[in-house]
Amino acid sequence: MSAATGKKAVLQLDGKEIELPIYSGTLGPDVIDVKDVLAAGHFTFDPGFMATAACESKITFIDGNKGVLLHRGYPIDQLATKADYLETCYLLLNGELPTAEQKVEFDAKVRNHTMVHDQVSRFFNGFRRDAHPMAIMVGVVGALSAFYHNNLDIEDVNHREITAIRLIAKVPTLAAWSYKYTVGQPFVYPRNDLSYAENFLYMMFATPADRDYKVNPILAKAMDRIFTLHADHEQNASTSTVRLAGSTGANPYACIAAGISALWGPAHGGANEAVLKMLDEIGTVENVAGFMEKVKTKEVKLMGFGHRVYKNFDPRAKVMKETCDEVLGALGINDPQLALAMELERIALSDEYFIKRNLYPNVDFYSGIILKAIGIPTEMFTVIFALARTVGWISHWLEMHSGPYKIGRPRQLYTGEVQRDIQGR
Ligand code: SDX
Repeated sequence: MSAATGKKAVLQLDGKEIELPIYSGTLGPDVIDVKDVLAAGHFTFDPGFMATAACESKITFIDGNKGVLLHRGYPIDQLATKADYLETCYLLLNGELPTAEQKVEFDAKVRNHTMVHDQVSRFFNGFRRDAHPMAIMVGVVGALSAFYHNNLDIEDVNHREITAIRLIAKVPTLAAWSYKYTVGQPFVYPRNDLSYAENFLYMMFATPADRDYKVNPILAKAMDRIFTLHADHEQNASTSTVRLAGSTGANPYACIAAGISALWGPAHGGANEAVLKMLDEIGTVENVAGFMEKVKTKEVKLMGFGHRVYKNFDPRAKVMKETCDEVLGALGINDPQLALAMELERIALSDEYFIKRNLYPNVDFYSGIILKAIGIPTEMFTVIFALARTVGWISHWLEMHSGPYKIGRPRQLYTGEVQRDIQGR
């Protein structure tokens, strides 16, 4: 429970004083408990939740000014370089990194749940082949609700925990199939002899014609690190969506589908796809200056830049850039779009317009260049983000259900018509 500091904020309202309790966490700003404002006949007003702590959480901490991201206290750069994605999943779910034995057991659990009910594969046929894979993911992950609707008691901690494993295990299968469906290739089933990232790339790129298909270990390692860098990020828009849906007692598969929907937007997880499209449109370094002018006149945004919380470098962007250099170097790829991205970053970081607005590269700025090097098509970038973030979403869902919670129900400032009667009828 948060530490009540005994400190209070005093609000002067209509000639009265309202004492509002102040709580402290272990890190980050204190919070003011404003619920007593209601008794005084007022609501607080904070569109976009710029200054609102919607819940208490122990999972992830972000310091936007210092560019710090901790998962259960561990810095993201250490997790990305000294742990793998499934260890990070275990950490987010359980609060501690797994021991060697726990890792083997967790890994085996996930591997044994990668298959989906065979009837799930029939949902894909309802989509046009040119459907965006995120549209497919919203549909098929939501459809999983129907397969567990009757044997999922969210009040039962064991049911909740197996649901987390099922989602972490099955979303890669559905993600790979959402790609296979759009390219007209047969679905490739998961294998229990491959690591998590290898299995995903195997299901993405193996075909029945190539029985000996082997995943390049360099690509598997890069994929695993990208998963880790996207695993969780505090109360972002899609995680808040999952929590809000979960607060109604909704089926967790439906909650995750809601998170996928929210992530899809270009202001959020859809930015990685938008970055590559932006780089394609700019084309060459010679066009950067003209593009930047359009950014300053607000005709376009510099996608992959800026963040609601980070007013300094996004620590994930730094690791992503290092990974970019490693992967492209190891593969001997000289991608002109990397040079273009670096020139955009150089100009932005030295330009008053961006400096004044604290606009730095975020997690999405370099990720697309690595994903392209791995062979992932642009329209699959946000699906990769959703795959990786599933553990973050379900960890927050579990945390919410592990204690008392209330249905989320914000209010509003109403500025519409006052009551009036229908006339002349
Ligand atoms: C993710 O919340 C999370 O944690 C999300 C995430 C996660 O892991 O879950 O980190 C993942 O979503 C990363 C962000 C990906 N989105 C993009 O890269 C899209 C481009 N970025 C912007 O749309 C924007 O920066 C946001 C949405 C990310 C943040 O928007 P805010 O906090 O509401 O900031 P704002 O729009 O109020 O911007 C402040 C100023 C404005 O200019 P002025 O009105 O002061 O003149 O900065 C400008 C904005 O116009 N601005 C940009 C810009 N982002 C903000 N100008 C040009 N290009 C940009 N990218």
